[in-house]
Amino acid sequence: MQNKLYSLIDKLEKEHSLSPDEYKQLLDGRTPELAEYTAKKAVAARQAVYGNDVYVRGLIEISNICKNDCLYCGIRHSNKSCSRYRLGEEEILSCCEEGYALGFRTFVMQGGEDPFFTDELLCDLIGKIKKQYPDCAVTLSLGERSFDSYKALFDAGADRYLLRHETADPELYKKLHPEDLSFENRINCLKNLKEIGFQTGCGFMVGAPYQTNSSLAADLKFVEEFRPAMCGIGPFIPHGATPFAEFKAGTLEVTLFLLSLLRLMDPSLLLPATTALGTINPTGREQGILAGANVVMPNLSPVSVRKKYELYDNKICTGEESAQCKSCLSRRMESIGYKIVTARGDKKPFNIQLKQEGSNN
Ligand code: 5AD
Ligand code: FES
Repeated sequence: MQNKLYSLIDKLEKEHSLSPDEYKQLLDGRTPELAEYTAKKAVAARQAVYGNDVYVRGLIEISNICKNDCLYCGIRHSNKSCSRYRLGEEEILSCCEEGYALGFRTFVMQGGEDPFFTDELLCDLIGKIKKQYPDCAVTLSLGERSFDSYKALFDAGADRYLLRHETADPELYKKLHPEDLSFENRINCLKNLKEIGFQTGCGFMVGAPYQTNSSLAADLKFVEEFRPAMCGIGPFIPHGATPFAEFKAGTLEVTLFLLSLLRLMDPSLLLPATTALGTINPTGREQGILAGANVVMPNLSPVSVRKKYELYDNKICTGEESAQCKSCLSRRMESIGYKIVTARGDKKPFNIQLKQEGSNN
């Protein structure tokens, strides 16, 4: 049985694809030894494409106002104890200025679904950032919008868009979201983003309430078929003011194993070691890199608002200035033999087809 699992890892390494059932077998049969074997191969695969470079993205949390009511999320509309804010254009531009000086060449503007951020306002802002920092990538993470809206943002110069699919299991999707949000629309948004030409990121939570290994296997298969440029995964962490307050958090071990599997599935995937991973374990992000991740996202938001962007309890990096956060992460990466680089950090090409043909010869 165990041998079978090791050969599935070898197969994933060579073919970058498994069936949902094979993914599930791996998740069901995970042992510390199997995880270590997988991580070793994942690191080698990442090393071949990216060496020891770790890409950084400066995260600017532009608004915690959200019209949605996702059951897991601390900034959900019905959380009346959340103190709401949105950043103005000047504040966002000054985060970019500070970030640029610190060596960031990607700015991620993330926020709740806040209707204040119209296409007009965002396009103007994107234009200003791209004009001032033409060597930087602009990433947006602002939830579900229409095709036309995404297209306008892309035409204004945005390069990337992150929209986690949250779960590829439609039944679980219903349990995590209110009725007015649908799995179909989520997937449709992701397809639109890709079609428009964004470097698109999807992703999911690990250990969300009611999640099973079959759901996680569906997530892996979804990522394999969608072939995103990025995939953000992190443990679910309960937030006290949500309906999921009493659920347990996802684990470090399962998240690390999934990172390794994703790396083997696509050696050039942009794979962040997330803040949530650093929140459930003091060295979670370092361990994430050692399992195959290659991106970190230090916080560039003004310190005055950081505590308010609380998607889950005990989120780290809420008290530190941007410069402190950057140097903290640099030190952490250096401590494990990696280094943060000043670069846009686009996905490197990895031709899966060619690789498969090569391995058949
Ligand atoms: N725990 C972990 N991750 C969460 N997110 C939202 N709420 C939580 C939580 N309680 C994630 C979602 C979302 C991203 C911005 O943060 O996956 O897409
Ligand atoms: Fe933000 Fe350490 S990475 S304070």
